[in-house]
Amino acid sequence: RGIDELGDLRGQRVLLRSDLNVPLDGDTITDDGRVRASVPTIQQLTAAGARVVVMAHLGRPKGTPEAKYSLAPVAKRLGELLGADVAFAADTVGESARKTVAALADGEVALLENLRFDARETSKDDAERGAFAAELAELGDLFVSDGFGVVHRKQASVYDLAQALPHAAGLLVRAETQAFSKVLDDPERPYVVVLGGSKVSDKLGVIDNLLEKVDRLLIGGGMAFTFLKAQGYEVGGSLLEEDQLDTVREYLTRAADRGVELVLPVDVVVAADISADAATSVVPASAIPADQKGLDIGPATIELFRGKLADAKTVVWNGPMGVFELAPFAEGTRQVAIAVSEVDGTSVVGGGDSAAAVRQLGLDEDAFTHISTGGGVSLELLEGKELPGLTVLES
Ligand code: 3PG
Repeated sequence: RGIDELGDLRGQRVLLRSDLNVPLDGDTITDDGRVRASVPTIQQLTAAGARVVVMAHLGRPKGTPEAKYSLAPVAKRLGELLGADVAFAADTVGESARKTVAALADGEVALLENLRFDARETSKDDAERGAFAAELAELGDLFVSDGFGVVHRKQASVYDLAQALPHAAGLLVRAETQAFSKVLDDPERPYVVVLGGSKVSDKLGVIDNLLEKVDRLLIGGGMAFTFLKAQGYEVGGSLLEEDQLDTVREYLTRAADRGVELVLPVDVVVAADISADAATSVVPASAIPADQKGLDIGPATIELFRGKLADAKTVVWNGPMGVFELAPFAEGTRQVAIAVSEVDGTSVVGGGDSAAAVRQLGLDEDAFTHISTGGGVSLELLEGKELPGLTVLES
């Protein structure tokens, strides 16, 4: 159900769950991608004359207020992006929230303080969450769910509130779910998935699910070394998850049985240490020196991956190819991102570090079909899981 189906919004108080969980350095937002992504839904609501009460979390505080997790800097940035004042309530369901909401005129926006300053938001106890949702529900007439990054969480502002108020999905949640369902349920072929990131143990469910669907699986990043080791190579000081070797061997067998091309790095950029001025060299993946760590894919692998992406009609990319935050190890991620963006078909960046990499490396965001704002939620979708925050919207 979309916002259009909520009826006339003029004068209605709309509780809007957004995902504004952004990285902060002190008071400075270092990547405002999620704040920007929340804007179109807010604008649609204000244009329709609603009084918008935005609810969000920041970080993982332990259920009590902590200054470093305050959403105050986010309220400021949101106001800049909207070109309008955003009233900031210093609490979530207390006096400040009630007064702030009562003072809103039609078309105005308020942001409540971090929902996770109240332990009931994330409680495992249905009654506790329900009680918090009931208090939130007093601040609004309608609920719009647009925090795509949190729809995998069974939390009061994501799940229980949808049971307490008439509700709809916001534009971001709709765009994200449509992008994922296209690549998961109806991919044009060849269908290529590029996986990276440090740990294979974070991606087991994803590999399990995707091995049934894709034509090619390209693997880079720290997780590649467990695959290389499983193939009998020595990986020096590179990241290695010994306890996943059997699982990875099984993936290699399953890929072969199913005719899925599983493509691993053929060369890697190595250094003795992870630092911005590290002395690097490129070595074959089969000859990583014992005292070196693999920290990026090498140039031959970039070419190999480019070739495997060239004729793709659907690509999903999740996880960087190396330690892209440091210049000596950024090239693999940069070149793979460019190759993904050049695909003549659907290209979806699966959120988290890969979406951050696109922005930090200054790449053209519009060149991709979709860049997800999700982190953990993107992985759960790629794992094929049902998500409580989406299921509840269907009721
Ligand atoms: C995220 O950063 O992935 C979302 O905001 C969810 O945060 P959480 O993992 O702390 O629930």
